[in-house]
Amino acid sequence: MNFKEQITEILSFAVKKLGIDESGLAVSFSNRPELCDFQSNFAMVVAKSMGFKPFDVATKIVESVNSEEFQFSAVMPGFINVKVSNKALSNFAEFVAKDENCGVEQVKNPKLIVFDYGGANVAKELHVGHLRSPIVGEALKRLHIAMGDKTISDVHLGDFGLQMGLTILQLHQDGFLDKFFAKDADLSELKLENVTLDVLNEEYPKASKRKDEDEEFKKLADTYTLYIQQKKEPYFSIYNKIRALSVAEIEKNYNLLNATFDVYLGESDAFPFIEDAINIFVDKKLARESDGALVVDVAREGEHIPIEKKSDDEPQRYKNPMPPAIIKKYNGGDLYATTDIATILMRNKEFNPDEIVYITDNRQSVHFEQVFRCCKLSGISPENQKLTHVAFGTMNGKDGKPFKTRAGGVVKLKDVVNMLVESASAKLAENGIVGDSELARRIGVGAMKFGDLSNTVAKDYVFDMEKFLSFDGKTGPYIQYTIARINSLLAKGEFKGGNVVVENADERNIVLALVKLISSYQIAYDTYSLNSLCLSTFDLASAFSTFYNNHKILTETNSERKQSMLALCSLVKACLEKALWTLGIDSVEKM
Ligand code: ARG
Repeated sequence: MNFKEQITEILSFAVKKLGIDESGLAVSFSNRPELCDFQSNFAMVVAKSMGFKPFDVATKIVESVNSEEFQFSAVMPGFINVKVSNKALSNFAEFVAKDENCGVEQVKNPKLIVFDYGGANVAKELHVGHLRSPIVGEALKRLHIAMGDKTISDVHLGDFGLQMGLTILQLHQDGFLDKFFAKDADLSELKLENVTLDVLNEEYPKASKRKDEDEEFKKLADTYTLYIQQKKEPYFSIYNKIRALSVAEIEKNYNLLNATFDVYLGESDAFPFIEDAINIFVDKKLARESDGALVVDVAREGEHIPIEKKSDDEPQRYKNPMPPAIIKKYNGGDLYATTDIATILMRNKEFNPDEIVYITDNRQSVHFEQVFRCCKLSGISPENQKLTHVAFGTMNGKDGKPFKTRAGGVVKLKDVVNMLVESASAKLAENGIVGDSELARRIGVGAMKFGDLSNTVAKDYVFDMEKFLSFDGKTGPYIQYTIARINSLLAKGEFKGGNVVVENADERNIVLALVKLISSYQIAYDTYSLNSLCLSTFDLASAFSTFYNNHKILTETNSERKQSMLALCSLVKACLEKALWTLGIDSVEKM
């Protein structure tokens, strides 16, 4: 049930009857809601070529339209305005109330889509830069589920890179691993003693700093990394133990954010596919050697054109840079691009998805463009498979610069969550609710997520905790609060179930807001951005507030009327909850 389509159909019937070419006929939501609900500027588009005044064409069309559900009128200079009848709105409300998807239209040909987000790196602490990927990724995945696609979410851990070699080398040198390196050590029996997350959080940064200053150390770390990748002992056993420790912590953090993954695979799982992947490029003569490395030229015409140097010491620059993808390093080591290409090969063998969607920050845009082009050139990704990179902007502090601690350091992801939960607790305490830490988490994290997703994904935005956590305004807590309020209404009003009968302007506005909310799922789907869904969710909550303030629901004496109003409340609740679920935000019973 879709008003826009119904209205378009009615208009197109009328237009054809008049002998006018209907191509270009479009109906949109009204931008003058006080005058009408939908509008079309079709008459203005076609009038000129017909040699008539737009208003006269609009009038002619309106005169030949026949509908009980919609009221059409022609207005100057040539718009066709459409008002939906109360009856049609009541029917729509009933349809949504009965529909298992709350009216959200399902895709015609469901696809299988792999969502690659999270991307935490084993042995490295999650920080604020890791917030957006699980927030945006989880919401996009749920959006696709809500619309009927099949999805597989993969956290794609960074679990096989240099950071592992660095960490193990540092632990080794600091004496944490002596037992593992002892002669005749029984690796199956050994436990990582004294190696806690806190230790890892110290050892990795220490090693990372050292590698920039100490060439020998860096070389040794490269060797350790290679040993891990070759599954050499005791490196591989140590690696597995560190991985398990770290992954448990990563999972805990993602759970706090409601980011859940179907598979906890990582770069290491793609490792067995690397050789095959590289051979494909070599066999198809797509790879060439360059300074001992193996590269694939992915630039297209007009890209990566050298700009003439003004002097010899100036570095070489390129017009439209699209550098070749390096798939094997001079020392034979494999690279980020290679792992991603091998991962696509693996996913296609194991899942054969119609689309793979990656959610990372926009600094990885060139990387993914290279990877995608490599996979298309080589046929590793079939022609009809869609590869999508959703690149998000930076989360900034109020100073407009990337969010930092007061001392200028990197903020841990855990600390951001704690901050949100504490602030939410304080707000709840103001309302007399104390000691409910799960409720505070739902509100605090919900506030963060709604604040994030309200922006176009690609844009940088400012992390403004007070604003995000406000119980009033375009915020997550406001939506949760609306639901809590409805819960209390439904309990006190003894809702018995029944239909919505739309009678007044406030009720009309609610159902029209619902129509818009439902259509915003498709907009979010098409744009890979949830801002439209956030906004229309807020608009529905806000239309509900107006209705709630203007009508005395609980003291209504006409019981049919009261039940109809409660039915509307219950419908709003279901649709708000569905929208929050899609955004990856928890609803709350009370607050
Ligand atoms: N681990 C990577 C990082 O920290 C993110 C992984 C994103 N996904 C991918 N398939 N490359 O930057």
